[in-house]
Amino acid sequence: MALPNINPTTTKSWEKLTAHFKAIKDERLQDYFNQDDKRFDRFSIQWEDFLVDFSKNRIQQETLVLLEDFAHEMGLKGAMEAYFGGGVINQTEGRAVLHTALRAPEETQIYIDDLDVMPEVHAIKAKIRSFCDKVISGEHKGFTGKAITHVVNIGIGGSDLGPAMITESLQYYKNHLNVQFVSNVEGDHVREVMKTLDLETTLFVIVSKTFTTQETLSNANTLREWFLSHAGEEAIAQHFVAISTNLEKIAAFGIAPENVFPMKDWVGGRFSLWSAVGLSIALAVGPDHFDALLVGAHKMDKHFKDSPFQENIPVVLALISIWYNNFWEAESEAIIPYTQYLRNLPAYLQQGIMESNGKGVDRNGENVEYQTGTIIWGGSGTNAQHAFFQHIHQGTKLIPADFIGFKTSLYGEEDHQHKLMANFIAQTEALMRGKSMAEAVNELIEKGLSEDEIETLAPFKVFEGNNPTNTLLIDALTPESIGKLIALYEQKIFVQGVLWNIFSYDQWGVELGKQLANTVLEDLKGDSIAQHDASTTALLKHLKN
Ligand code: F6P
Repeated sequence: MALPNINPTTTKSWEKLTAHFKAIKDERLQDYFNQDDKRFDRFSIQWEDFLVDFSKNRIQQETLVLLEDFAHEMGLKGAMEAYFGGGVINQTEGRAVLHTALRAPEETQIYIDDLDVMPEVHAIKAKIRSFCDKVISGEHKGFTGKAITHVVNIGIGGSDLGPAMITESLQYYKNHLNVQFVSNVEGDHVREVMKTLDLETTLFVIVSKTFTTQETLSNANTLREWFLSHAGEEAIAQHFVAISTNLEKIAAFGIAPENVFPMKDWVGGRFSLWSAVGLSIALAVGPDHFDALLVGAHKMDKHFKDSPFQENIPVVLALISIWYNNFWEAESEAIIPYTQYLRNLPAYLQQGIMESNGKGVDRNGENVEYQTGTIIWGGSGTNAQHAFFQHIHQGTKLIPADFIGFKTSLYGEEDHQHKLMANFIAQTEALMRGKSMAEAVNELIEKGLSEDEIETLAPFKVFEGNNPTNTLLIDALTPESIGKLIALYEQKIFVQGVLWNIFSYDQWGVELGKQLANTVLEDLKGDSIAQHDASTTALLKHLKN
């Protein structure tokens, strides 16, 4: 079960989409709304607690039909079967891609090479639950007999971003444990965290799929040495646990087998928060909330697997994004959650999306001649309105944006919630509608400005509008709805990778920098400097002086 291998630009539907783009490129969103009072009904999906409104996009019914034809022509259905069925779709690493198995119900059977992976998935889940219960209840004691109060997750990339973002987003559901994250190899980062810890009551969770990552091992070693300067070797067992596929390296680090939570090589780092990598989440919010997160993700997987393309949220959002990326030549996409809880969602999705689909070689091993990958950025609303929104409203670039909001607030601050949602709704309306010259002039007349003043100022007050947005309006921020939301973006990544004919689940592009850093490290530590270009050599000399 491999992925199909088709150059998207050679398909009939690509040709039709190109012609269709030329035909409608000068049309305006506002006219679409004026001409069609059913536009919202046509271009929105209500599914469970999600309302997804994609009507404020530069699309017509025909656009979607052509995009769906394109998905069919590219073999998306077959690719989905291979993906969910445990096919080796991460071909360049020779692995299946089964993070979906981590959230599948117990009775499911998913095979890799005739082996059902589900019993082990559930055994690890049971181990996570029992460990978390003991730590949260205080039954698990530190080396001086005190209960654990602090947890430090040591990891980077997928071993940090997911657990950190989810823990932060579920802050409302948190228990008494103080959970922190150390990721950067910068010593000041780990030092700042150390300042806040009491060793007697701290649990260190080392997360590294490979257990070879420089940043994670450096931080883990520093913390271990610090710990051992206050406690004996035997105390490691109460204070250090590890999550990895590399059981040998964990043993060499000195962590006992009972403190190891294995992960499998068919789970990619950036898709791993659902596995034992999510231990810090489960500790922070308790195993029931962690399970609810998984339940939500599974519901989205099921929706994705079973829904026809036109009612399929990840498929529709992936297709619209391809429409902008490949036909409108949009350079980036913004993600704007209207909640502080999700302020780090854009950073999390940067890894998920850009490490997956930032690829320039197709599944034939040839350089692609079309755009792949989207640049993701963003920030939380309403803060972002006072930062980069100027650029979206009046800049020269086309920036499709996802607005994510929740109908209800968690603490029920009604006045705040009304204001938050008023901004949430008004911004997408403003981006779509804009403000014409006539409207700008009228406003200035009403303000009593002179004719000359109006003539000078009016051009700056015009908003072109016609800016596309998707609105994801979710009932409430719960572990389950967050699980659905993250799985939605994961499935969007999958769809786009299939349609761009690239391999989404490897990340060779991070290797070169790592390799060169090893040489540069020797230069920095040693007496001599190896052969480099003039810039690199000069920088090294400057550092060593
Ligand atoms: O940045 C490259 C990468 O391999 C990511 O894909 C991964 O999430 C991160 O490094 C951390 O890797 P590990 O979990 O093996 O330490």
